Amino acid sequence: MELNVNGVTHPISSSPLTSLLEVLRQELGIVSPKVGCRQGACGTCTVLVDGEPRRACLVAVATLQGAEVTTLEGLGTAPDGLAPVQEAFHAGYAAQCGYCTPGMLMAAHALIQRAGGPVYREQVIEALSGHICRCTGYVKIVDAVIAASRGQVDSAEFDQLLRPEPSEPEIEVKGSPA
Ligand code: FES
Ligand code: FES
Repeated sequence: MELNVNGVTHPISSSPLTSLLEVLRQELGIVSPKVGCRQGACGTCTVLVDGEPRRACLVAVATLQGAEVTTLEGLGTAPDGLAPVQEAFHAGYAAQCGYCTPGMLMAAHALIQRAGGPVYREQVIEALSGHICRCTGYVKIVDAVIAASRGQVDSAEFDQLLRPEPSEPEIEVKGSPA
């Protein structure tokens, strides 16, 4: 079979039931999707399939004939070609060890594309709810996604711009001590 990844078509020799995650990392050398739980529970392997977030560890490669797979390598490249959500993560210090970051970025990018404009905190929390950050940096991650959706990706006033309005209650992100 053939697999289209980031606009390039690759012949695939792995067996049909091999996971997309394994094909990307082992056969194609595309390593931004990280290996976590391998059970669909952590989100770090998330890529886009025809624009929608999918857990690469759960998708058999044989089901992807004719589909367009996008990984972080296809989203934007440093230093000058970053996608808005990548710029916002950088400006807002939204990555610590970075292991969860590729999956977070892909899911966030899909959310912003779907919304076509500013997204609300609750939308971001819902979209990223299946993504585990062991560094627990959830607040800055959510802030960065909101900033990216507003086009506030390169500002010294990043933090100030994202503080809730006085009437807007702070939202506790479960699992985060931040
Ligand atoms: S490795 Fe795929 S969801 Fe955890
Ligand atoms: S930044 Fe380390 S796991 Fe999220």
